[in-house]
Amino acid sequence: MNTDLKFATAQSVPTEMLAVFAAQSEKEGEAATLLTDNAALRSAAETALNSGEFEGSECDTLLLHAPRGLAAKRLLIVGVGKVGKLDAHQARKAAGAAVRAAKPRHIHSIAIALPQHVQLPSDLTARAVVEGAFVGDFDPDTYRSDRKDKSMKSVVFVAAENAERGAIERGYSEGLILGEAQNFTRSLVNEPGNRLTPTVLGARAKESCESVGIKCEVYGAAKLHELKMGAFWSVSQGSAEPPALIVMTYEPSQPPPGHAPVLGLVGKGITFDTGGISIKPSEGMEKMKYDMAGGAAMIGAMRAIAQLKPAVKVISIVCASENMPSGTAQKPGDIQVAASGKTIEIMNTDAEGRLVLADGLWYAKQLGATHLIDAATLTGACVVALGMVNAGVFSNDEDTFAHFNNGLERSGEKFWRLPCTDDYKEDIKSSIADIMNTGKGRWGGAITAAMFLKEFAEDTPWIHLDIAGVAWTEEAKPWMAKGPSGIAVRSIVEWVRSYSNN
Ligand code: BES
Ligand code: ZN
Ligand code: ZN
Repeated sequence: MNTDLKFATAQSVPTEMLAVFAAQSEKEGEAATLLTDNAALRSAAETALNSGEFEGSECDTLLLHAPRGLAAKRLLIVGVGKVGKLDAHQARKAAGAAVRAAKPRHIHSIAIALPQHVQLPSDLTARAVVEGAFVGDFDPDTYRSDRKDKSMKSVVFVAAENAERGAIERGYSEGLILGEAQNFTRSLVNEPGNRLTPTVLGARAKESCESVGIKCEVYGAAKLHELKMGAFWSVSQGSAEPPALIVMTYEPSQPPPGHAPVLGLVGKGITFDTGGISIKPSEGMEKMKYDMAGGAAMIGAMRAIAQLKPAVKVISIVCASENMPSGTAQKPGDIQVAASGKTIEIMNTDAEGRLVLADGLWYAKQLGATHLIDAATLTGACVVALGMVNAGVFSNDEDTFAHFNNGLERSGEKFWRLPCTDDYKEDIKSSIADIMNTGKGRWGGAITAAMFLKEFAEDTPWIHLDIAGVAWTEEAKPWMAKGPSGIAVRSIVEWVRSYSNN
């Protein structure tokens, strides 16, 4: 998708379709108002808006052909809901809806007028609209032989000539980086287990890091043995595909002072989760190709971080493996020794994510991380608790959590905090080893999984994101195709940037 930013009068931009946002009236029955000062646009839309057939509710669209007085061939009016509520999330959705209205109509080049008269600062508005256009452009039909190229060829973002140039240019270029990184993550998550093995995920991470100029090392089973990663290996030992330990490093150009934080990003990269010997029911098992979404989010986040260049060092570790049943697979009751030395009683081989992450978190600390964040499609229990709207967030440190939570307004992603206080510690105590890999009962499964990870974060400030319910969207939305969502990329990047002073 080619993009451009123009400071121009919207009526003079020649395009197949010009999209403009409209806000719903606060009063019932009143016409929606265009979010632009541009008199030509207002007059072209006037009759349609007064017709009463368009309210301007969220992602509502109305397409006008040959709009009077405009260089555009079509004018698309996109509702954003009530304008008092226009936040980054809303702006992103409206831009996505504009792109997704164009695609099935075989319209490949469009322009989007950045909304005016909104409370959101100009940089965040521009950024959200650009991100939304990228998100809307993604379709998961990679392997359809009748796949016509439905991708958007070009999107021009149009800002008013008197707009705040510096802020809009900054928001625009950040939006390009974040939107592309999120779609990169989505394309990885979309890949099936036979095409994206741990080795292939490692190669894709390496390619991505090389293209943005950061270091990436990919290790195999030998390294797991050398580091005594007994928890990670216990998951990989049953698979014919070797595991991959992916280590990506971003160093800021100015070396930060000695006491500066080093951020550790750890992702669950299970390229297919059958459950292992505690095998999952076959219904819906195909979905378990997305069990690497946390790892893919880290690879995408590092891609964005390398380009946004925050003044903080970031190390990212993705623990990639399959979880398979076989003659060499681990069994319930087995005892494993994690790299940190903790002993684990395996109660259920399907609770494999926490095992690979245990050694990943430990290794991030070994490499010098002072603050940790992990992302994982970790538990079905988190989906039961929060549904498919909010992802779960857990933390052992208030300040670190505040850094994350404050970033959500900018990222526009939805996370809801769940507890992981020591009151729950009893739940994962084992009678034969230090801890068990599941809770004693079935209640609070998302929390017991977090408690397990907390044992490996130890005293290091840590955030855990359980994205099981939101990494895959079951139904298409007006602004986004169904399939991989790319959740967490933007929030992780915001968290990282919150530790940088540039
Ligand atoms: N990958 C699954 C969690 C999951 C469930 C992801 C639904 C996406 C959608 C994870 O490895 C798993 O199987 N967890 C078990 C843990 C249990 C055995 C303690 C679960 O949630 O059932
Ligand atoms: Zn599992
Ligand atoms: Zn899993």
